[in-house]
Parts: sequence; structure tokens; C-alpha cells
Amino acid sequence: MQVRVRSASYVGTVYEQLPPLPEIAFVGRSNVGKSSLINALLGRRSLVKTSKQPGKTRNVNFFQVDLVERPSLYLVDLPGYGYAQVSREMRQSWEGLVRRYLRGNTNLRLILVLVDLRRELREEEFIALKMARDQGARAVVVATKADKLGQSERLKQIQAITAQAGMDPVVTSASKGAGLDALWEEMLAELLT
Ligand code: GTP
Ligand code: MG
Repeated sequence: MQVRVRSASYVGTVYEQLPPLPEIAFVGRSNVGKSSLINALLGRRSLVKTSKQPGKTRNVNFFQVDLVERPSLYLVDLPGYGYAQVSREMRQSWEGLVRRYLRGNTNLRLILVLVDLRRELREEEFIALKMARDQGARAVVVATKADKLGQSERLKQIQAITAQAGMDPVVTSASKGAGLDALWEEMLAELLT
């Protein structure tokens, strides 16, 4: 499927009054590759700041995307959770921020729950999946950093994550550009219904 991005830009945070458009949210552990995946999907090197240092994204950031011959949408980059250095207060503020963003959000069409393909789903990912369900939004599990594994490890991990999540993950590599078409397909399916 051919998806062409006409333009993409940062338009603000959750605290601003933005014109309503369908939203697709990226949720996941800090450092899992949320910001990198957004850049890769948009074919932009550094629209969204990425970092080796976990905790780079500290707010709910909205990126408006205008596509050729398809509806416009927001990609929403949520702050990462679960890195070791955060205090309990920060963790609670993360949960609060995400819950406030999700609650009553009728524009939210799809939540992408990212998990590093080398890891497995843990409590936070299941919480994110549940939050999506409670909200009536569809959730899709997206495995990231597939380039870090060889073929046989990759298959083993895909099977493990599939069993845990009860659904097939979309397997991606932001650095190699793998799985991006499949992910766009999932995203557009939600926008066109
Ligand atoms: P926070 O904003 O801290 O929540 O992190 P994030 O989930 O936005 O992660 P980010 O995109 O900043 O990526 C974290 C690190 O992982 C960076 O050093 C990226 O270059 C690296 N990374 C992201 N995606 C990939 C990938 O597909 N393959 C490889 N090899 N590295 C990746
Ligand atoms: Mg980030």
C-alpha cells in the first residue's frame, strides 16, 4: 500500500486546544522506540526528538500529519514509562497524564502499544492494553527494534509476544524501515472506518 505524507509537523501538547482530528497514540516503555517509529513512519529523520537517554519525551506531543488522498490525523507521542531512575511521584504523574489523555477522548482511534522485540509484555503493557479496551479504542501491539535479532530469535520472540498478547504484533525496525507499510495499513484501517 502506498502512503504518501504531504506534510508533518509538531502542533502542540495535550494542554492546547487543537482542532479535532482522528488520533493514533504511541504508548510504551521509555526507550522502546516510540519517537523513532513516528519519525520512520513519516520518513523524517528528526521531526521527533529521540535519545539514548530514557525519558526524553516528557509530555503528550501531537504531530499533525497530512496525507495524500487520505484523511489527516494526529500521531500522539506519549511519554515513556518504567525506566529505573524515575521516582514514584514521576511514575504517578505519568499514569495521571496518560489517563487524562485517554479519558473521554472520542478522537482516539487506535493505541499502538510498543514492546521491544527482545523483551516480553509486562504489567505496564497489559495496563496500556486494558486502558485502550476500557476506552473502547482498538489496540495493536507493535514490536520494535527487530533489527537487533537474528532470524531464529526473531521468530521465537514473535511467537512469545503473540501468545502473551493474544494477537499478532506488527514487527518493525525504525532504523531499517521494516514493517512500516504493515503498520500504516493498521493505522489507515482505523481512520477509514
Ligand atoms: P522516551 O521518549 O524516552 O520514552 O523513548 P522512546 O520510546 O521515544 O525511544 P526513542 O525513539 O527515543 O529511541 C530510544 C533509542 O533506541 C534511541 O537510541 C534510538 O536510536 C534507538 N532505536 C529506536 N528504534 C530503533 C530500531 O528500530 N532499531 C535500533 N537498532 N535502534 C532503535
Ligand atoms: Mg520519545
